Order: sequence, then structure tokens, then C-alpha cells
Amino acid sequence: MVTKITIAIDGFSSCGKSTLAKALAQKLHYNYIDTGAMYRCVTLYCLRNGLIDEKQNVDEEKLKENLSKITVDFQFNSHTKISETHLNGENVEHEIRSMEVSDNVSKVSAIHDVREKMVTLQRMMGKHKAVVLDGRDIGTHVFPYAELKIFMTADEDVRARRRMDEYTAHGQFFTLDEVKHNLQKRDYADTHRKENPLTKAKDAIVLDNTDLTPEQQLDYVLKLITDMQLTKDPVE
Ligand code: DC
Repeated sequence: MVTKITIAIDGFSSCGKSTLAKALAQKLHYNYIDTGAMYRCVTLYCLRNGLIDEKQNVDEEKLKENLSKITVDFQFNSHTKISETHLNGENVEHEIRSMEVSDNVSKVSAIHDVREKMVTLQRMMGKHKAVVLDGRDIGTHVFPYAELKIFMTADEDVRARRRMDEYTAHGQFFTLDEVKHNLQKRDYADTHRKENPLTKAKDAIVLDNTDLTPEQQLDYVLKLITDMQLTKDPVE
């Protein structure tokens, strides 16, 4: 009998959660759910439909009225080997990573009705286990009974540099200070919001990857899975 588990990865912005989650999902043949991408989709919808003004105020009433019109899903791309995010059927994997979306996503993701809808979707997507989810409230709220919970962190300058390099690779150019400012603003909002703020679950294992390569962090977690005898599936 194989044992499929749920792996919850939470942590601060840009500390490599998705890199680890994708690698684990690939290695274990699990599904990967990027919950941040889902909040980014709703934010992109708001930006496109004039629901956020120039002072970054969100028209919550209009957004609530429109929520039923927003669909978010992931489709596996067999060429890139990653599941790409779709908003109302359109592939927005690239667009949701823009600085404009990053600048507004914390506000949108703090809205009760938005969280309720996204959490319901996440629970549906992960109900059969064999899944890796990354986000802010996975181990504390979405899947509090996840067999393995990782809380990720890394030095702020290192995180900012990694995120800046990612932007640059996608042809978006920002200074280190601009990127750092966005991370600080989001971390503050995400840890201080009223509903399901980012916090370490009591039973989460802290992983500080400041000095770890992606391969090292993957090996570390695979060893945890083996040592904790969380799954009887072979982890090669
Ligand atoms: O993981 P990310 O940086 O793509 O997430 C974008 C934002 O979405 C993040 O700043 C806070 C929000 N978020 C959330 O509130 N809850 C989650 N489970 C995932 C993300």
C-alpha cells in the first residue's frame, strides 16, 4: 500500500518556496499547487477591470460582486514540465509575476471573500493528497493536518537579490532597493492581516535556505520524508 501525503510549505516572500515545492512535486510525482498564483490571478483581474485605483484602494464591493466570474486553474504544460496558471481560461503564468501585481496582491489577498473562495478551491484541488502546496496559511489553515509542514525563511538581502534576478531574467528591471521594499511591504501585510496571517504552524519544520542551493534544500526535505517515514513510496 502506498501512502500519499500532503506537503505544506509556507514562508516569507521570495524565499524559494515554489522552487522547493516544484522540485518535490516532480520527484514524488505529486501535484503542485501554487496558492500565491491564485491570489495573483484575482489581483490581475482587479487591475484589468479597474477595481484598484491609483492609490491602491481595492473596490471590495465590486470585487465581491464579480468573484463568481473569476475562475482560476492550473494546466500542466508538458514542454515546460510545469503547471501554468490560467485566469478565466487564459494562460497568465507570466503576467501574474509582474511588479504591478506584486505591489497589489497583499491587499487583495487580505479580503475575506477572496480568501474564502481560494481556500475552498485549494482544499478541493488537494483533497486526494499526493500534493505539495506553497503559500502563507497552508499548514495553519488550509491543510492543518498535512503530514509534513515546512516553514521557509532566508536572509532578506539574499531573497531580494534572488527576486531581482528573476525579474531581470524576464526583462523587468528594478533596483535591489525597489525589490526589497516590495518584499518588506508584502511580508508586513501578510504577517499582520486579520485573516489567516502568515505564521509558523506549531508543528512546522523551519528551513532557512540562505546558504543552501536548490539541490541541497530538496535533498534536505527528501531526507526528512524518509527519516520521518511519512510515505512508504520509494523516494529515489
Ligand atoms: O507566494 P507569492 O509571493 O506568489 O504570493 C503572493 C501573495 O499572495 C502574498 O504576498 C500573500 C498572498 N498569499 C496568501 O495570502 N496566502 C497564500 N496561501 C498564498 C499567498
